[in-house]
Amino acid sequence: MEILEHVSMCDHTTLRLGGEVRFFVSIASVPELREALVFAQDKKIPFVVVGGGSNVLFVDDEWNGLVIHMKLMGREYEEGNKGDAKVTVAAGEIWDQFVEETVSLGYWGIENLSRIPGTVGAAPVQNIGAYGVEVAEVIDWVEVLNAKTNELHILSSSECRFGYRDSIFKHEEGKDYIITRVSFRFTTQPQPRLEYKDLYEYFGVRTDVSVTEVREAINKIREAKFPSLMKVGTAGSFFKNPIVSEQLIVEMEKWLDTPIPHYTLKDGTVKIPAGWILERLGWKGKREGNVGCWEKHALLLVHYGEGSAKEFLNFVEKVKKSVKEKTTIILEPEVRIVGAEVTTST
Ligand code: EPU
Repeated sequence: MEILEHVSMCDHTTLRLGGEVRFFVSIASVPELREALVFAQDKKIPFVVVGGGSNVLFVDDEWNGLVIHMKLMGREYEEGNKGDAKVTVAAGEIWDQFVEETVSLGYWGIENLSRIPGTVGAAPVQNIGAYGVEVAEVIDWVEVLNAKTNELHILSSSECRFGYRDSIFKHEEGKDYIITRVSFRFTTQPQPRLEYKDLYEYFGVRTDVSVTEVREAINKIREAKFPSLMKVGTAGSFFKNPIVSEQLIVEMEKWLDTPIPHYTLKDGTVKIPAGWILERLGWKGKREGNVGCWEKHALLLVHYGEGSAKEFLNFVEKVKKSVKEKTTIILEPEVRIVGAEVTTST
């Protein structure tokens, strides 16, 4: 295990932004992870775990901490006799390779989550979700190393406190947990989830689809909306979709003079697509210098190259300010920002 110094995070994040970090280490085993944590404790510096770097932004100034690059590998398959299967996967495995493998085995469960960049260990942190499915629905348990005690623990799905783009791992109570393995439940019985608009538009009245066809559909849908990571830097949706009161929707419809697409949640609150709001406010396709709002999907903020985290975050603030002025909504970043307090427009 080699601890590197002054490593640029541009090369380790899909936004391709950010300055150097003081220390950087790739870990491929639990003993190495423990060693890395002892190093950070001895130096009294913070640490942050990075998988594919697809949902994180580092500021330009050097961050005085340790980046732990998660490279734990391994997948264990266990087939049951009632058409169910369990797969336990190490945190450093690439998420979409795992999806591809389960789909090729005919397992139903995560096909709608095809093509999401990042690692398996990052999936529970923000409870990745797309096309009507959230990863929490198939997670049985999550194994974590407690950075305070250096011990491994198993957390049940309910102990992970999953919510919309949320889990215990994003909160104070979970800040010492480092995800090392995730165990998933699958079924070989067909269970297509086609209720999301893009999918029912794709398949029409068909319901006899195979799991491979669902993956192919998602690939096509995403290709049409998402930029290629080879061409521009992005961390996917930059903001969460805001959850507001029904009353606010009524008022916003008056201010914006149009019906607002929204989904009512179980508790009566309402989720609005932030991409729709940004398009409505004229941000879609808008470029300022080296950063901008993607032309085919306004929720994706992009970096065209040669930009800085400062330039990007200034753009983020401008977008947030305009949304707050027109709607009173304060957009929350979905992407983790390291090295700066997350700014909130007030
Ligand atoms: N919309 C617009 N204009 C836009 C973008 C979207 O009007 O520029 C409208 C769409 O027409 C649609 C609605 O907004 O009616 C929702 O759009 P979409 O289906 O693309 O989904 P989203 O809510 O913008 C969420 C996730 C994505 C995930 C998609 C697909 C969040 C923050 N994002 O986006 O996840 O891929 O659903 O299910 O919940 C990510 O987390 O990085 C991510 C890409």
